Amino acid sequence: MLSPKLLDALNEQMKNEFASAYIYMAMAGYFQSEDLPGFASWMRAQALEEMTHGEKFFHFICDAGGRTDLRAIDAPANDFNSPLQAFEHGLKHEKFVTERIGALMDLAIEERNHAAQIMLQWFVTEQVEEESSFSLIIRKLQRVEGDGRGLLLLDQELGQRVFVPPAAAGE
Ligand code: FEO
Repeated sequence: MLSPKLLDALNEQMKNEFASAYIYMAMAGYFQSEDLPGFASWMRAQALEEMTHGEKFFHFICDAGGRTDLRAIDAPANDFNSPLQAFEHGLKHEKFVTERIGALMDLAIEERNHAAQIMLQWFVTEQVEEESSFSLIIRKLQRVEGDGRGLLLLDQELGQRVFVPPAAAGE
């Protein structure tokens, strides 16, 4: 059901998703060290969400009769000059993921693998949301630049994010 080329690309994207979790957990550590627990909590929630994205690829590969291939993950950046720089780094990463999902979809279409296309459709939509949420926080950070009180208010706001596992969310 999966060509060797598509299987390889799916395994590579599974790695990218788990790597995203690693990147955001490193950012959570940075925010914790900066005494910004709300930002840290938001990033931990993001990391947990990325784990579920990796799992979606894991399950799809298994269900489609393919063999999973967990690959090496590069060390993420642990330090940043500012919260803004961390989120800009995150947005850049999300744009990379969007580009990879697009390339995967192109391959699934080229191979006329309908099941893969349907699975990837979820990720196409998700990436719009991912880029949007990082972009919005970047704009807020730009607005509060140099305003310590504004940063603390934003920290409180981001601390409200709650990660809901997909099963509990009814997916
Ligand atoms: Fe799973 Fe943030 O892309």
